Amino acid sequence: MVGPPKKHFLPLLLLVSLFAIFFFSHYHSSVPITPLIPNVNPNFIPINDLNKNLSPQNTPTFTFLIKVLAFNRLDSLSRCLQSLANANYDGDIVHLHVYIDHFPFVNDSSNVLDQKLEDSQRMLEFVDGFLWNFGNKVVHYRTGNVGLQAQWLEAWWPSSNDEFAFVVEDDLEVSPLFYKFVKAVIVNYYYNVSSSSPSIYGVSLQRPRFVPGKHGNKLHLDTGRELFLYQLVGTWGQILFPKPWKEFRLWYDKCKAKGIKPFLDGMVTTGWYKRMGERIWTPWFIKFIHYSGYFNIYTNLGHERALSVSHRDAGVNYGKTVGPDSQLVDESSFDYNLLEMQPLSNLKWYDFCFREVVPGRVVRGVDDLGSVLQSVQKLQTVLLVSIFGTSETITRNLLCHFERLNIQNYIIMGPHSDFLYDLARRGHPVIDANNLLDNMRAQKLIRFQGSKSELADILVKAYMIKKCLEYEYNSWTIDANMLFVSNDFFHEFIINKSKECIAGKSSEIFFVRSSSSVRKIWTDVFLNKVATAAVQAPLPTENKNFVFLVTKLLEQNGVGITWVDETSFGMKISINSVIQSILGAWKIVYWSMEIGLDLVQRQLEEMGMWALDGDSSCKAVICHQSS
Ligand SMILES: *[C@@H]1O[C@H](CO)[C@@H](O)[C@H](O)[C@H]1NC(C)=O
Ligand SMILES: *[C@@H]1O[C@H](CO)[C@@H](O)[C@H](O)[C@H]1NC(C)=O
Ligand SMILES: *[C@@H]1O[C@H](CO)[C@@H](O)[C@H](O)[C@H]1NC(C)=O
Repeated sequence: MVGPPKKHFLPLLLLVSLFAIFFFSHYHSSVPITPLIPNVNPNFIPINDLNKNLSPQNTPTFTFLIKVLAFNRLDSLSRCLQSLANANYDGDIVHLHVYIDHFPFVNDSSNVLDQKLEDSQRMLEFVDGFLWNFGNKVVHYRTGNVGLQAQWLEAWWPSSNDEFAFVVEDDLEVSPLFYKFVKAVIVNYYYNVSSSSPSIYGVSLQRPRFVPGKHGNKLHLDTGRELFLYQLVGTWGQILFPKPWKEFRLWYDKCKAKGIKPFLDGMVTTGWYKRMGERIWTPWFIKFIHYSGYFNIYTNLGHERALSVSHRDAGVNYGKTVGPDSQLVDESSFDYNLLEMQPLSNLKWYDFCFREVVPGRVVRGVDDLGSVLQSVQKLQTVLLVSIFGTSETITRNLLCHFERLNIQNYIIMGPHSDFLYDLARRGHPVIDANNLLDNMRAQKLIRFQGSKSELADILVKAYMIKKCLEYEYNSWTIDANMLFVSNDFFHEFIINKSKECIAGKSSEIFFVRSSSSVRKIWTDVFLNKVATAAVQAPLPTENKNFVFLVTKLLEQNGVGITWVDETSFGMKISINSVIQSILGAWKIVYWSMEIGLDLVQRQLEEMGMWALDGDSSCKAVICHQSS
């Protein structure tokens, strides 16, 4: 493909060798997760109402564009276009756009120059003579060398939300089945409102090969799962969906204009960017996908088979021809119907670590709780995090720390908001506390008059602990005004302290051990006592806090409570606190809800506990061994 002059050949060879080196790291997927029962669009917000009941067939503006990126390899291009022309397009109109990059103007001898000019001319003559019967053929011949990044990025600006682009580098060859497959994916996962997701940015036809968060290690797939979602972009046969691509282009503009680089710690692609800079485009796209929490659809056809293959021909990316990476499939390759697709809710989703992500876990009502609790618990323990009264960035920062510490058994509970639902879309389990409280009242689990939405925090916490006790889970409850420095915090407390409940003296840390004695006390009656106490608690609000209210009620019932002093193991941020950058001795960092979030952020930055970058996504992708 398109790329740098010969003297910069080495870095590209390094990239090639990354593809070639296989580290056999066996991936074990996480504890089996109880699948959520699919009901009407349980997991995903529809793309937009305009798409209701539309399909390519009855959407007049449905358009499929093939964007071929070519440079100076006539034989490759010829094979590529031939395979595209041999595909089955079902009688649909499909347009072909060919982008031919120019050779770079370097100080060549006149012989070499004449040869290059002649090659270019032959290339254009071939493309001009190439018969394309399925739609328009448009040729874009560059006046200068733009390179791979601009070839990709400038290939497309979608003219509607019904326009799809298939970007094909010239050393690819596609299966004759590719279009029928892609169309089936679009019908099933884009136009079907009850089986679509705004998180999907496209479809990759290549065989998935590596895990970018794990040094580019080879990806190991179980057989028997035909389709799955994975965050990584595939450059050997990528179909792009219009909306995410537009968002990407705008995001890229913003980063370029502001001098922001696509650095994402922990990703092998960041190393590529550092070596190759603007000659490649994938680090930018990958950074955008990490920021936006989007996913790509992949096939797992087994036996190293795929719907598109790269011949990895000699050229700029490869010093000599490496040959195809996979085998192309055709109609005869399958003893099942590849075009019959499962509902989206049956597919698995994977992040840049190839760790399973479960999007769409939202607790809105009492009946949603069981499956979500079971899916998040680890070692029979659940961590409930209230984000009432905190900002989005503080919550995001907390979630980056959970990723760093490999804490997976959390549920975020907060007020009804787009932010909360966006967290769920990205795979964080959430509780919509306002909806859940309404549902608790509708089901007469809790009785009190008036709309006390400010009590949602307390009442939902009390209810969640009750449910955890019913499932025999230990529960930790915290507010989002703290960060853990390491993840041994919980274990130590549970091991050291013998009483059934642990409560923080000055924060909302609260632990309830699963035991039959507490289960007997924490009943619906108890829940209503909490509600009554919360309603009656006098202002100011500090007397309305959860730990204050429930510990009083528990003590009245003779439950033993161990009080812990946060100042003995935590570092408190306050206006005049002296920042200690050595956090080793501390287990947590915490702050009062009253202090300004700017101050919190500044101090966390000084401590090295601010894990967000400029666009409020985590600075790093952190993969763990057995996750
Ligand atoms: C190109 O090469 C010629 C002869 O080697 C030299 O005189 C000329 O300055 C070079 N031009 C550039 C732009 O490097
Ligand atoms: C849309 O998806 C749902 C859920 O997977 C499925 O039951 C339904 O048949 C699909 N509708 C169409 C028109 O394919
Ligand atoms: C738990 O016990 C260990 C050993 O007795 C002690 O070093 C540690 O500080 C205790 N942790 C807490 C949080 O009390």
